[in-house]
Amino acid sequence: MGRLISVASGKGGTGKTTTTANLSIALGKMGYSVCAVDADLTMANLSLVMGIDDADVTIHDVLAGRNTIDEAIYSTAYENVSLVPAAVDWEHVLIADPRKLPETIRKLKGRFDFVIIDCPAGLQLDAMNAMMSGEEVLLVTNPEISCITDTMKVGIVLKKAGLTVLGFILNRWGATERDVPPEVAEEVMEVPLLVVVPEDPAVREATLEGTPVVEYKPDSEGAKAFMELADRISRIAGLKARVRG
Ligand SMILES: Nc1ncnc2c1ncn2[C@@H]1O[C@H](COP(=O)(O)OP(=O)(O)O)[C@@H](O)[C@H]1O
Ligand SMILES: [Mg+2]
Repeated sequence: MGRLISVASGKGGTGKTTTTANLSIALGKMGYSVCAVDADLTMANLSLVMGIDDADVTIHDVLAGRNTIDEAIYSTAYENVSLVPAAVDWEHVLIADPRKLPETIRKLKGRFDFVIIDCPAGLQLDAMNAMMSGEEVLLVTNPEISCITDTMKVGIVLKKAGLTVLGFILNRWGATERDVPPEVAEEVMEVPLLVVVPEDPAVREATLEGTPVVEYKPDSEGAKAFMELADRISRIAGLKARVRG
């Protein structure tokens, strides 16, 4: 059965879209069928990061009742990876009903091994609708105390709402000497630390090129960390399947 995983954080710019793109491609490389969904309706950029900029039908059209979700699924240049893109113009934002996100995205369960949902930051209604489209959540934080506590809050709210918190990603680590150490971050977050992704210029370079780093520079430290994350997620998924089995 497919897994619906939301990628969430307290603040913007922590690396949710980067994580969604790289995790999706990394899981695809491992042989899983994956659908990456851009559920950040007002600040959509997953398609650009994944190198697609000419989609006719977007998630906005589906949320406006103009198209079906099937019509918004695109294949990508990445092995086993499909994408549901979002529109970037404001007119589309105005007609899309974010409350329909959960029922829309849940239709993808069972059709893919993994559906990875790129969400807006914070706990506003748009973000809640996007995050509640998943059954599990991956939290993304940077090594700064206010970022960690904000992301922790999101985790607490989602857990109360019934989602399973898989753990968190400590992204952009090592940029400054004042960075919160991984052990301390894990103690504050009170959920498992899945991977530490270093601050790596290759990640930003890859974003600019429209080819996520696991594909653009697979030997970079950033790419290796995202591959490690995919490995963790695959093992958690396998373990849960056995427990349920
Ligand atoms: N580990 C990293 N090292 C260097 N730059 C990064 C890293 N992770 C993300 N970035 C850069 O940070 C910016 C914000 O990332 P993004 O994934 O768009 O954040 P969010 O979706 O949470 O707003 C992007 O320019 C991205 O390339
Ligand atoms: Mg984003």
